[in-house]
Amino acid sequence: MTRIQHISDHPPEVSVQYSTSSQLYTEYLNPRFSESHYILKTLDFDLEVVEFERKSEQWRRQLPMEITNQCLNRPRPHLHCEILNFFSLHCFDVCNCEVIVADNYFTGSKDNLRKWIGHPRFELIRHDVTEPLLIEVDQIYHLACPASPIFYKYNPVKTIKTNVIGTLNMLGLAKRVGASMIMSDRILLTSTSEVYGDPLVHPQDESYWGNVNPIGVRSCYDEGKRVAETLMFDYHRQHGIEIRIARIFNTYGPRMNIDDGRVVSNFIAQALRGEPLTVQAPGTQTRSFCYVSDNVDGLIRLMEGEHIGPINIGNPGEFTMLELAETVKELIDPEVEIKVVENTPDDPRQRKPDITKARELLGWEPKIKLRDGLPLMEEDFRLRLGVPKK
Ligand SMILES: NC(=O)c1ccc[n+]([C@@H]2O[C@H](COP(=O)([O-])OP(=O)(O)OC[C@H]3O[C@@H](n4cnc5c(N)ncnc54)[C@H](O)[C@@H]3O)[C@@H](O)[C@H]2O)c1
Repeated sequence: MTRIQHISDHPPEVSVQYSTSSQLYTEYLNPRFSESHYILKTLDFDLEVVEFERKSEQWRRQLPMEITNQCLNRPRPHLHCEILNFFSLHCFDVCNCEVIVADNYFTGSKDNLRKWIGHPRFELIRHDVTEPLLIEVDQIYHLACPASPIFYKYNPVKTIKTNVIGTLNMLGLAKRVGASMIMSDRILLTSTSEVYGDPLVHPQDESYWGNVNPIGVRSCYDEGKRVAETLMFDYHRQHGIEIRIARIFNTYGPRMNIDDGRVVSNFIAQALRGEPLTVQAPGTQTRSFCYVSDNVDGLIRLMEGEHIGPINIGNPGEFTMLELAETVKELIDPEVEIKVVENTPDDPRQRKPDITKARELLGWEPKIKLRDGLPLMEEDFRLRLGVPKK
């Protein structure tokens, strides 16, 4: 057996990995109690976690009660998987807790994080969620996944791995840290309105099962998120993991990636550069746009509340793509041209959330209207593109 890697240094657990020709073992040492725990890591992710739990609980039972509680109740940070460019940053702005962000920089950029790097409550780890993560946290916001069609279509295999293996790993972590109803530890998944596919009901409420193409170019994202939801519920039913699922509808706001091909960022960047606003045909397809601070407020309420979801988080204001282009044109540059271009396959024709559940169960509804949110995003894009206001 060869010792290969010292992988973590977060008290009270220290992990060391060993490999044989066919297997990888992880040893957990607890410096406080001089105990060791061994788990076998195989491709069966669940086996890893079950094995650890069994030993861990056995070990806990052997400890005097007050020490066990002290160990279990230690303050632990929140984990945000992903998110260098969007939600986590806004979450961090409003929360008061210690935050660890894990991101593989697939679509995220460190630039967005400049403000927080070095902050005593903030820690950034380069980590891909398709690999297991062994740290101590209480709440897990599992947001890792490219959300722009340009990026998920660029690497669909990686995208579905992130949704399936990444979610398994995050659920494994939740299970290991004891996310159960007895404690306030829990895991939240940002699912998507894409689980409704090209919907046959309008507006979409959470009871609708969707109309999704399982083999299309968007399926890595749509079907990936559907499997992620399934995994969340299976871990909840089988292992008692405390879960939360948000089905997010189109969200926009400052710090979005300027050239990631999402419609609001596209139109704003095009208008600021004086380029034609490219509306994908026919232009009558609808979307509902939620400003990011409203969205984050919904996510935090869901995480802190008692309802597991899925719950739609979106703004019920519905706009055709041509209406959105007209609004951006009017607000930013009335001279700019609107050009209809070819669409991509499986583009949903309509999208509008029914947010009755969010209103009733979370006391949440969006406050920022599209016309008020767009100028805030315009201001941020102007700064980043170096385009002064006329
Ligand atoms: N923005 C929206 O309109 C919207 C709508 C519905 C759902 N969502 C969901 O919300 C979440 C965040 O969306 P966003 O708009 O900030 O997306 P984004 O693409 O801007 O950010 C995704 C982040 O995840 C990271 N990432 C991707 N794969 C990873 C991996 N394997 N391991 C670690 N990190 C990885 C990226 O580097 C990036 O920082 C996603 O789960 C997305 O599906 C977003």
